[in-house]
Amino acid sequence: MCGKYTCKSERGISMSFLEIAKKRFACRNYQDKKVEKEKVEKILEAAYVAPTGGNRQPHRLIVVQRDEGLSKIGKAANIYNAPLAIIVCSDNDKAWVRPFDGKKLTEIDASIVTDHMMLQATDLGLNSVWICYFKPDVIRKEFDIPENMEIVNILAIGYGAGETESPDRHSKTRKPLSEIVSYE
Ligand SMILES: Cc1cc2nc3c(=O)[nH]c(=O)nc-3n(C[C@H](O)[C@H](O)[C@H](O)COP(=O)(O)O)c2cc1C
Repeated sequence: MCGKYTCKSERGISMSFLEIAKKRFACRNYQDKKVEKEKVEKILEAAYVAPTGGNRQPHRLIVVQRDEGLSKIGKAANIYNAPLAIIVCSDNDKAWVRPFDGKKLTEIDASIVTDHMMLQATDLGLNSVWICYFKPDVIRKEFDIPENMEIVNILAIGYGAGETESPDRHSKTRKPLSEIVSYE
């Protein structure tokens, strides 16, 4: 049951949103352990409730867990041996278009969905890494993705192996707010 500011996770530990956001890090080393079906379903539920521009929901998700699919992804990207990868596509023909300049929300929508799934994975005690360094033409061919679908992100998920990053690392790894925020 979720309160206004905290959410009881699967493990019964309450983490605030900021705690989840700080805990998440780009994990590039995974255990050889599958992600449980219930957890995959929770991650997909987070995608389901994500907002999109004009509620157009142009995204399509390809959930890859079987060895055959994972090795197909391996031809296009390094997913660091994660046991689960979600290819996030978005339909250029369906995304909302801003009338003033023709800007399409294709990638923005896909990235909101990706972020929802990534943070849900963290709340479930999983690790993840967001991947854009991939060969889109190879993914398109291997998974038979039509031309109108833009392949925007791959989210690799699993149980991390080895070192975790500190939730207090951001003062060293992020620009100070004073540099990125201005008040008018
Ligand atoms: C849009 C986006 C694309 C990224 N692409 C990759 C990638 O292709 N490969 C990779 O190893 N990490 C990738 N990352 C992870 C970032 O390098 C990482 O999030 C960033 O360095 C901050 O580190 P942290 O996530 O551990 O806080 C990507 C992250 C984002 C948000």
